[in-house]
Amino acid sequence: MRLVGLIPVTFAAMLLASCDGEAAKQAAEAAAVPAPKLEDLPAPYNTADLARGKALQGRKCGACHFVQASRGNQVGPNLHGVFERGVAKADKYNYSPALKAFAEPKWTPELLDQWLLSPDSFVPGTAMRLNGITDETERRDIIAYLLIASRE
Ligand code: HEC
Repeated sequence: MRLVGLIPVTFAAMLLASCDGEAAKQAAEAAAVPAPKLEDLPAPYNTADLARGKALQGRKCGACHFVQASRGNQVGPNLHGVFERGVAKADKYNYSPALKAFAEPKWTPELLDQWLLSPDSFVPGTAMRLNGITDETERRDIIAYLLIASRE
């Protein structure tokens, strides 16, 4: 009979242990990704023009986003660690319900490419006010820059 009482307790303890483990793992993952070099990025990002990506990022995103961790959020969330931390997970940032409900757990270069092409149609109801970037080499260069700068 005593076993019956123990089972839920043991189960709860196991659940707690696995949640803790998961949070610790995510934190370690976010910290552990070193900034890659351009040639180590997946295609087509490994042939991007980084200087152009940096300039475009400054011009098209910089009014709303900081990339360096130390600078915090602006109109938009800080983009440091954006590929590791999960979608809509910047600390102390108040996301729209639309982005919080986004179906994918993490940003990938492919998802970011569709997001930047047309934020409004990719995530209807998003609070990000950006006219889509229709030039695909511009998107490639911005994403390549972010793949590196968000990990520096
Ligand atoms: C006019 C302001 C503005 C501009 C310009 C802008 N953003 Fe945003 N961005 C936002 C806001 C606001 C959000 C939060 C959206 C929401 O909660 O729906 C956001 C969200 C994001 C996210 C999701 C972050 C997360 O934590 O999940 C990414 C990635 C992003 N922006 C990238 C970019 C890039 C790259 C550019 C430039 C090409 C850009 N943004 C330009 C305001 C902007």
